[in-house]
Amino acid sequence: NWSMDDFIDMQVESIRKEVGDKKVILGLSGGVDSSVTAVLIHKAIGDQLTCIFVDHGLLRKNEADEVMNALSRDLGVKIVKVDAADRFLGKLKGVSDPEQKRKIIGKEFVEVFNEEAKKMKDAEYLAQGTLYTDVIESGTDTAQTIKSHHNVGGLPKKLGFKLIEPLRSLFKDETRELGEKLGIPHDLVWRQPFPGPGLGIRVLGEITPEKLEIVRESDAILREEIKKAGLDEKIWQYFTVLPGIRSVGVMGDGRTYDYAVGIRAVTSIDGMTADFAKIPWDVLQKISVRIVNEVDHVNRILYDVTSKPPSTIEWE
Ligand code: XMP
Repeated sequence: NWSMDDFIDMQVESIRKEVGDKKVILGLSGGVDSSVTAVLIHKAIGDQLTCIFVDHGLLRKNEADEVMNALSRDLGVKIVKVDAADRFLGKLKGVSDPEQKRKIIGKEFVEVFNEEAKKMKDAEYLAQGTLYTDVIESGTDTAQTIKSHHNVGGLPKKLGFKLIEPLRSLFKDETRELGEKLGIPHDLVWRQPFPGPGLGIRVLGEITPEKLEIVRESDAILREEIKKAGLDEKIWQYFTVLPGIRSVGVMGDGRTYDYAVGIRAVTSIDGMTADFAKIPWDVLQKISVRIVNEVDHVNRILYDVTSKPPSTIEWE
């Protein structure tokens, strides 16, 4: 009779046995998989685990703080947070091609991680939040051939660590159950998928700090209202995008010429196919009014009503 408690005991035991008194590092993305992996390994070996959390400046509003609070402050996981926003934005300056942006973000991510990892000379192991689905899908993910996916995974080969992947036998829902058992907050464990390149692929074309701010603020309002409406666990993924077009509007007595923000919300099982979510009009209206009122340089809101295929979930 297999239970999550048995799983935790078994993994703690086997991690201790494997690692001994050696050091482990882990690349924390703030996502469910790496967070659960971190807390599980921390439970087994405490401060022998150091997590590296690269903040590339493309995270959602408050995201870095939420991760630090939940894992470091409340659960005692040792995390080195690297604030690399300027470095990433510098490399991305003038770049507008989506795949080029992904490549730069992915490459920079590995480099920053590598530099931090090198500082921990005595680390022998690298932990990763690989799930069962990652194991069986690796190499056959068609989405990967359409858009190159850069996640925290794919780091180790170059770095020469021994791998620890305690979630290799788990599905996503089991990983979430495990996360809650380990004391990770419900909201973090049940959060929607978030791409490795983050908001970087939601500002279409060249990324500027001003555009990033518009996406970050509008996305925070969207998430707040979706949660308030009780839809946050019903819609698979929801976010805003900035297509970069500007249009004419009117505010008071004046004419405005400002950005349009797009709302993308989909229902899906695995992200491979998706339907646009039918958010009630009154909720959409509230979101629209709030974004235009609260986010500078926005005067129009668009709602994406295409499914995947033929669209993708992200706009880039
Ligand atoms: P698409 O846009 O391909 O997205 O329909 C399917 C799922 O994959 C996520 N996605 C990414 N995840 N790196 C990631 O880690 C990426 O470059 C990337 N591009 C898309 C997307 O958010 C959705 O959940």
